[in-house]
Amino acid sequence: MTSFVARPASRGVHGRVRVPGDKSISHRALLLAARARGRSTISGLSGGEDVLRTAAAITAFGAGTGASPAGGLLVDGGRLHEPDAVIDVGNSGTAIRLLAGWSAAIEGLTVLAGDASVARRPMERVAEPLRAMGARVDGRAGGRYPPLAVRGGALHGIDYQLPVPSAQVKGAILLAGLAAEGATTVREATPTRVHTEEMLAACGADIEVAPGRVTVRPGELRPLTLRVPGDPSQAAFWVVAACITPGSDLTVPDVYVGPGRAGFLDVLRRMHADVELLEEDASASTATIRARFAPMAATQVGGAEVPSLIDEIPALAVAAAYAEGTTTFADAAELRLKESDRVEAVVAALRAVGGSAEERPDGLVVHGAGGRPLAGGKVDPVGDHRVAMALAVAALPAAGAVAVSGWEAVATSYPRFEEDYERCVS
Ligand code: S3P
Repeated sequence: MTSFVARPASRGVHGRVRVPGDKSISHRALLLAARARGRSTISGLSGGEDVLRTAAAITAFGAGTGASPAGGLLVDGGRLHEPDAVIDVGNSGTAIRLLAGWSAAIEGLTVLAGDASVARRPMERVAEPLRAMGARVDGRAGGRYPPLAVRGGALHGIDYQLPVPSAQVKGAILLAGLAAEGATTVREATPTRVHTEEMLAACGADIEVAPGRVTVRPGELRPLTLRVPGDPSQAAFWVVAACITPGSDLTVPDVYVGPGRAGFLDVLRRMHADVELLEEDASASTATIRARFAPMAATQVGGAEVPSLIDEIPALAVAAAYAEGTTTFADAAELRLKESDRVEAVVAALRAVGGSAEERPDGLVVHGAGGRPLAGGKVDPVGDHRVAMALAVAALPAAGAVAVSGWEAVATSYPRFEEDYERCVS
């Protein structure tokens, strides 16, 4: 196990940090490119281990991959077959859930397995609708946990109301729907990220999007030419770092700020943070985010905004820990089902560095230090990349260093985090 010792900043966080390509878009780009007949070109893919797992998975199904002379990835797709070995998704819940739906459209058996964290993540939410479409899906504990065995083939469309807001489940059903007989409709009461439907449309799929509903009909896909924008979930760490650390002035260019992903910016604005969007490109849903230090105040987070910021709660909890007043994160029971139980992990980590926080069944309460430095200390992020990065950020305005153990978890999504940290923090 490696540790990272994050030291308090003396001058703040400055400069321009280019974050990795968006993880959600990267997984989907690979899966769609593998399905499309012909050659796709994808640049700016996330280099995190999660996305590398999906890249390896598509080759196991027969997609060809290679480097493009311009620096991106070429994917030759369209002729997929049953893989001859277990697909290892590592730490990636997104990979296993999307692949469950994607492989249901391929005749034969696919076995999906991952690490100890993935083995604890609920799969019934994806298995149940896929079974309703005619796939045979089994797994550990009566089909509820990985490893998953998916026998794909003849599918039929369904009209499905998501019981929990989940873009992974929506995506899995839509990907299976590409090969199902008839129309497949997914309905959601609370909006979630729209990458699957947007990218399917870009590949020429027969897809119809209406408020609260997406319908896809079977058909072939066109290859993609795509530049993956920066990941807002990674940008959130730097934005919070600048917001809480006196003297900071930082920009993060080319960040995806489209529907379902930018909720953390709204929360920070409610906290009186100094954040602004520059160089907005509406056609690509991207912007440069500029963040500067300002004293912040507590807010209440909950309701329909939660899916749009669920992955950013560890970073937002750190912002709350330095704000004036008590911030509550509610309606976020899903947080307990991520790479770790993030309610428990974030509360324990904040307390370990001198913060004050409590668990709630559906979220957490953070009592802010009102600008006073937290003490610092030793943190175990329980193998969770986002908890590790959030607590490294918490060190910046702290009185003492924060030693984060199990730092290798960060490679899941942001292998160059430490490099960027050394460059921007002074
Ligand atoms: C993701 C959806 C969210 C998010 C995850 C990525 C996606 O999960 O937390 O990191 O790419 O679809 P849920 O679908 O479980 O809400």
